[in-house]
Amino acid sequence: MKPTMKPLILINFKTYLKRTDGLELTKKLMQVKSSKYTLAIAPSSLIVAEVCRKISIAVFAQHLDPVGFGPHTGSLSAAEAKMLGVTGTILNHSEKKLSSKTLQKTIGLCRKLRLQTCVCASTIREVKNIAPLKPTYLAYEPVALIGGNISVTEARPEIIQEAVRTAKKISPATKVLCGAGVHSSEDLHHALSLGTEGVLLAHAIVLSKDPVKALKELIT
Ligand code: G3P
Repeated sequence: MKPTMKPLILINFKTYLKRTDGLELTKKLMQVKSSKYTLAIAPSSLIVAEVCRKISIAVFAQHLDPVGFGPHTGSLSAAEAKMLGVTGTILNHSEKKLSSKTLQKTIGLCRKLRLQTCVCASTIREVKNIAPLKPTYLAYEPVALIGGNISVTEARPEIIQEAVRTAKKISPATKVLCGAGVHSSEDLHHALSLGTEGVLLAHAIVLSKDPVKALKELIT
C-alpha cells in the first residue's frame, strides 16, 4: 500500500468469522471503493495467506512475531508475511498485548521489512511509551469501549485529542488512529476533526447484517 495522506479505515476481523465467511466478507468489502479513504482489512491469521493470494485489497496481519525463517514453532513470521504481500500488521492490540521488549523488536523488524505497523494503546501512558518506537500508526483504543456501541469519539474526545498531541510531539511522522465502538460516518468525521488520521473498527462492519452497506455508510 503506497504511503498516502488519505485517512485509513482499518477493519479488524478479529476471530469473529470462520474461514469461508471471512473470505466471503473480504470479497464483498473489496467492492467498496473510496477516493477519500484508504480501506484495509485485518483478517484472521489463518486466512491471511489465502486473502493475499485471492483478493486485491490492503491486508494487515492482526499480529506478527519478530522472527524470520527458522526454529520458531507457533510464530507468525514477519518475513513470511512480507513475502505473502501483507501491507502491515496490527501490534499490541488490547486482546493481544506485547511486552515492550517484544514490541520494540517487532517494530524494528517490520521497519526493516517495510511492513507498516499499527500499534494499539489503551491509555495515554501507553501512547507515551509507544510513540518513541515510531510506528506507522498508533491507534488509541480504550478497552472499556471495545465491542460496544458507544464510540470512543463520543465518550473520550478529549483523550483522543491528547493522544494525538502526545504522539505527534514524540513522533511527528506517526499517524494517530482511534478505535472502539466506531460505527457511523459521524464517528469517523468526529475522529478526523479531533486530529486522527483514521479509525480502527471491527464489529460495526464485520458483524453487520450488510457489511457492504455498513462500510459505504461509514465512508459517506
Ligand atoms: O481493532 C479494533 C477493535 O478493537 C475495535 O472493536 O468492535 O469496538 O470496533 P470494535
